[in-house]
Amino acid sequence: MRVLSGIQPTGRFHWGNYFGAIRQYIDLQHGNESYIFIANLHALTTIRDRDQLTQNTLDAALDLVALGLDPAKATLFVQSEVPEVTELTWLLMSITPMGLLERCVSYKDKAAKGIAADAGLFTYPVLMSADILIYDSEVVPVGADQIQHVEVARDIAGSFNHLFGETFVLPKYKVLETAAKVPGTDGEKMSKSYNNTIEIFEEPKAMRKKIMRITTDSRPMDQPKEPDTDHLFQLYSLFASDAQRDEMAALYRRGGFGYGQVKTALADVAENYFAAARAKRAELAANPQQMSDILADGARRARKKAGEVLARAKKACGVAR
Ligand code: ADP
Ligand code: TRP
Repeated sequence: MRVLSGIQPTGRFHWGNYFGAIRQYIDLQHGNESYIFIANLHALTTIRDRDQLTQNTLDAALDLVALGLDPAKATLFVQSEVPEVTELTWLLMSITPMGLLERCVSYKDKAAKGIAADAGLFTYPVLMSADILIYDSEVVPVGADQIQHVEVARDIAGSFNHLFGETFVLPKYKVLETAAKVPGTDGEKMSKSYNNTIEIFEEPKAMRKKIMRITTDSRPMDQPKEPDTDHLFQLYSLFASDAQRDEMAALYRRGGFGYGQVKTALADVAENYFAAARAKRAELAANPQQMSDILADGARRARKKAGEVLARAKKACGVAR
């Protein structure tokens, strides 16, 4: 199966990104032809600070490889390093009805909030369609908020094929594990926009501090508590072994413990869980040439496929000789 997904470099990745998306991308590298890219052109619709965008893009690449994305198995690249994708965007834009984009929630939500939209934000789903179609992607794993955009890609591919003959593979989305909605430090969904995140590669000391600030109820020490509805327990479960989780659940049900104890246990398992990745990241960061070679090689492989599909599309619609 040819699988593709992109992730925007809008900030350092947090636990929600890892358990909700990154971990699945990494799993998909086994037994599939997989393309994973850092969507820096999409991030340009929100980040207007050159140094920050450059740094975020590099950080995203370091994080992904440190966490186990294997550049020998998956093609890892930066979106802007495959210029064919922006050329295809124009071909697709030319046959995309305004109404299709006006219906996209990502745009509608911002417009409804009175945020001034630029053409980049409005046409964002067309660039995303080009991202998908240019690699003949069959399956696109995404979070629930991106399903509509994959459907747009499928619509546009269908119209193009109808107008100009069979050109594009019709992609299908695959919703990433929705059960793993990771709670943030306030118990709401962990998200950059809620300011409740714990970053994967946060310094251990700072990470402990954030964990200690996770909100809890005012249950007295001696009272038992149902673990499954407690966000602190949910976070602990993400990192703990089955035996550790069962033991903690029993402690909750028995009562007589303090939340401080659970927080310390969470900090310990989380630190341990990412210890190897943290060491790998430090090693990669110390050798910038290596990361640069990985991304150059990824872009080279991606461009090879993108060039073929773009040529096919240009020929189909009559803009190639
Ligand atoms: P944020 O909400 O912090 O801005 P993004 O929207 O950039 O995060 O999410 C990138 C990916 O991580 C998406 O696939 C999204 O579904 C996943 N993700 C983000 N936060 C969570 C969470 N709390 N639980 C599960 N998955 C998440
Ligand atoms: N829009 C996606 C997001 O914000 C990122 C993305 C860009 C993407 N191009 C893509 C995801 C192509 C899947 C396929 O999360």
